[in-house]
Amino acid sequence: MNKIVIKGSVPLEGIINIDGAKNSIVALIPASILSKSIVRIYNYPKISDVYVLIDILQELSVSTKITNEYIEIDSSKIKNTPLTTTKMGSLRASYYFMGALLGLFKNTTLRLPGGCYLGPRPIDLHLKGFETLNCRYDINNELIYLQADKLIGKEIHFPFPSVGATINTMLAAVLAEGETTIYNAAKEPEIVDVANFLTQMGAKISGAGTSIIKIIGVKELHGTDYVVIPDRIEAGTYLILGALLGNPLEIHRVNYLHLYAILTTLNKCGVKTYINDDKIIVYNSNKLLPTDIVTDVYPGFPTDLQQIITTLLTQSHGISTVTETIYSDRFQNCQELIKMGANIVINDNKVIIKGRTPLKGSEVVAKDLRGGASLAIAGLIAEGTTIINEAQHILRGYSNIIEKLQNVKANIHMST
Ligand code: UD1
Repeated sequence: MNKIVIKGSVPLEGIINIDGAKNSIVALIPASILSKSIVRIYNYPKISDVYVLIDILQELSVSTKITNEYIEIDSSKIKNTPLTTTKMGSLRASYYFMGALLGLFKNTTLRLPGGCYLGPRPIDLHLKGFETLNCRYDINNELIYLQADKLIGKEIHFPFPSVGATINTMLAAVLAEGETTIYNAAKEPEIVDVANFLTQMGAKISGAGTSIIKIIGVKELHGTDYVVIPDRIEAGTYLILGALLGNPLEIHRVNYLHLYAILTTLNKCGVKTYINDDKIIVYNSNKLLPTDIVTDVYPGFPTDLQQIITTLLTQSHGISTVTETIYSDRFQNCQELIKMGANIVINDNKVIIKGRTPLKGSEVVAKDLRGGASLAIAGLIAEGTTIINEAQHILRGYSNIIEKLQNVKANIHMST
């Protein structure tokens, strides 16, 4: 298994370039099969989730070409093969093949998705979306069977603005008959990115980025060249790192409009950031202030940065709290931070962090993607050597993380 080894407490300086958004690309790859001709996706992140999705495309007889610049996807010979291998269970976003295959073939069989354990992660809202569009489903033995004679556009009212269910419903609806309206849609920038991608392929979608999305079904979609938006979670992670060790750090190729929640939070903690177009300079703060954070759907504080900001709050002078409202079990990193010297008390969906506590290098385990990133940041600020076991979780979501950190002078490497 992969390990990351870090010798911490080294000031970091230089430029980190942000890659395309993980939560976009993992939807854009399955969405590409809706096109009759070639799709090219630029600015894709070099993360393991991408390579797994490409492998899954091959099971469908979709041909792909990967260069350093783009991924090319040609679905002209696609076959509706049941997707039952364990690859489907190795990541969450394999669920987007449900909407895409259903939209294209009106029936499909797939293995249920996997991904990080953050508490129970049902897909009932995805199924509610499909069912409203006239699809029947059955789940048996980890497999899901979706079947529709034809998909018919309707009104869908979601009780919660789920990112995955919103995107999956869009994927199923773009080739459906008639008009679909999604009420209480998720508003994350990745939803807008997927809608823009589908629109460039000939889909008729309006309202993405608001809570009402309308889709008018079309007969077919065509190929396109598309550039993925910057990853706001990757950018947020390196901004937090810069607030701790930046001497300074420059985070380039960002969309700062997507970073409002993290920038205002860092500002409240006394961190200085300077925005210039698609670049942000961040200086370490020698007196970090405590704060209270409550995760929320976009544009609120993203749950995907909650574990990472917790590491920063261990260095704030005073008592901070982090309340998680999206997932029921997203504090698995805290036990590891405690091993490193943090003073954290977990109370249901809230953690109380008493700072500032110096962290010491330790052997820890990454239990999930963002929790792993929180430990990498902890290792970078800790005195001594930190070994992060199960580091493959981190590689699922951070493009070239080791090289990017080495380039800003971090003492970090992979080991087996
Ligand atoms: C996506 C992101 C993930 C991020 C999350 C919230 C991807 C691949 N992953 O995950 O990084 O943390 O958005 O911003 O884009 N829920 C249900 N039933 C459903 C669907 C969701 O109860 O059918 C619940 C979930 O268990 C969770 C909440 O709704 O408690 C949010 O889920 P959702 O917005 O769907 O997140 P994901 O698409 O899983």
